Amino acid sequence: MKDSKIAIIGCGNLGLTIARGLIDDGFEAKNLIATRRNTGLLKDLAAKGVVVTSNNNEAVKSADVVVLAVKPYNVEPILKEISGSLESGKHILVCLATGITLTDLATWSGKELPIFRAMPNTAADVNESMTLICDSGASVSQRNAITQLFDKIGTTLYIDESLMEAATILGACGIAYVLRFMRAMIQGGIEVGFDAKTATAIVSQTMKGASELIIQNGTHPESEIDKVTTPKGCTITGLNEMEHAGFSSALIKGIVASYKKIEKQ
Ligand SMILES: NC(=O)c1ccc[n+]([C@@H]2O[C@H](COP(=O)([O-])OP(=O)(O)OC[C@H]3O[C@@H](n4cnc5c(N)ncnc54)[C@H](OP(=O)(O)O)[C@@H]3O)[C@@H](O)[C@H]2O)c1
Repeated sequence: MKDSKIAIIGCGNLGLTIARGLIDDGFEAKNLIATRRNTGLLKDLAAKGVVVTSNNNEAVKSADVVVLAVKPYNVEPILKEISGSLESGKHILVCLATGITLTDLATWSGKELPIFRAMPNTAADVNESMTLICDSGASVSQRNAITQLFDKIGTTLYIDESLMEAATILGACGIAYVLRFMRAMIQGGIEVGFDAKTATAIVSQTMKGASELIIQNGTHPESEIDKVTTPKGCTITGLNEMEHAGFSSALIKGIVASYKKIEKQ
């Protein structure tokens, strides 16, 4: 991907986090093209050397990889708009929009292209995204190239397209679930004596540490919990109280409710 040019079509919240993540990882800003209609909102990217334009066709023509970061309802009209600029054998198409299938993308682009769906999350902004990817018509080297691209903004995992909606819930919406959990923990921390800033610092690092234990040790969360729970101790007392109030059940029910909602859309 070193010399590839990437066009991010619809550089809004997610597009910006990806652009920033790529630049922070050393991707050359001049090889990045960002579009949106209101280009005034991309001044910061332009200042870093990113090519900023509202002309989607111009962006596509000067890129090898076209990343569609627009809302799902904009994907079809934009693909039809840029179809004439997409070239088989040159372009790789990557769509980040929720719920748009590989078949939709192939139909609307009207071209035979390697097509990818990728579901990153907003932690791309700090190069810690969890990105789930699937494709149709891509070669092994194109898969490697797209994986490498998203590896720059975090961790990637290849999945079957049938799991893409579940991936949206667990990975992209997951950021919000975890942050709500953090907020609750911070509120608890304030109630037991810390100011908000200190509680936030303690909770943030504790969350990070807990994640790293699982990521680096490859252990199951419950086996790490067993190490903290002294018989008759304060940890198990608190944990059981949380479970009596429906803690795990609330999380599972919330995830399933989100999934049912996305399935209906
Ligand atoms: N946010 C997440 O956590 C997340 C995670 C995974 C996937 N996604 C998916 O990512 C996509 C983008 O989400 P988002 O939160 O980044 O939305 P967003 O902030 O609204 O960004 C979309 C951008 O598209 C631009 N746009 C609209 N029409 C356009 C056109 N004709 N040509 C060029 N640009 C156009 C808009 O800017 P202008 O109005 O200035 O044109 C807007 O900034 C969605 O499909 C979502 O499903 C989001």
